[in-house]
Amino acid sequence: MLKRLFSKRDTSASIRTDAIPSALPRHVAIIMDGNGRWAKGQGLLRTAGHAQGVEVLHDIVQTASDIGLEVLTVYAFSTENWKRPAVEVDFLMQLFSTYLDKELQGMHENNVRIRFIGRMDELSPLLQEKTANAEALMRENTGLRFNIAVNYGSQDELLRTVRKLAAEVKAGAILPEDITAETMEEHLDTAGLPPVDLVIRTSGDQRMSNFLLWQAAYAEFYFTEKNWPDFTPEDFVEALQVFAGRDRRFGGLPRS
Ligand code: FPP
Repeated sequence: MLKRLFSKRDTSASIRTDAIPSALPRHVAIIMDGNGRWAKGQGLLRTAGHAQGVEVLHDIVQTASDIGLEVLTVYAFSTENWKRPAVEVDFLMQLFSTYLDKELQGMHENNVRIRFIGRMDELSPLLQEKTANAEALMRENTGLRFNIAVNYGSQDELLRTVRKLAAEVKAGAILPEDITAETMEEHLDTAGLPPVDLVIRTSGDQRMSNFLLWQAAYAEFYFTEKNWPDFTPEDFVEALQVFAGRDRRFGGLPRS
């Protein structure tokens, strides 16, 4: 059994060490979908689905850290999610704030390094302060790199990146031909992180929803019918096992 490093609740879900594939992806991205459907199925308000989703997120971050995953990025709130009813948006922002209050210390003690991607400047001043403080607290940590996408949209990120590069060209700092895939990557919110190897999406929907479009160019996909609040550490490890069995070609020829 794996040692539980920062247990908060007993998930009774200790992962057998021999279930963990030796060839782990470097970077896993998760679209945590289906909170609303889960809540509806339980006869609860949608917000109850998000509250349960936070508990599941705790377990998955813990598992990712325990098994030695290098990078985990989760989609918590998209640039399009502002279109939801104000009561749901407010609840999600409050949940995000309490999540940071409750989880940061445990993550820090376990050497997790947190980072936020997306338009943080459009969040409340309190959330901007909390997220900046969290990043500063864990900046030197060398364990799991845990990224939370908040007010994130991949098209928005690419537009911001192109504008930054255009400004550098205009200022005479670089020439248009200096813009390469590498310079693009250095200006994305994910600068310094490896490309996404595996995208997991819960709830049965099979789409990218404006998440990490550049970074996941050669990612493998794992879809499950389970809604996010039902997703378990065992399901996470199963996705890693499926990934380990995939033949990745990156545009090249199949291995014969
Ligand atoms: C998608 O389910 C989920 C979201 C839009 C929010 C994801 C948020 C969490 C898992 C918890 C909050 C995270 C943090 C870091 C505090 P949905 O609401 O679209 O579900 P539906 O498709 O069934 O309606």
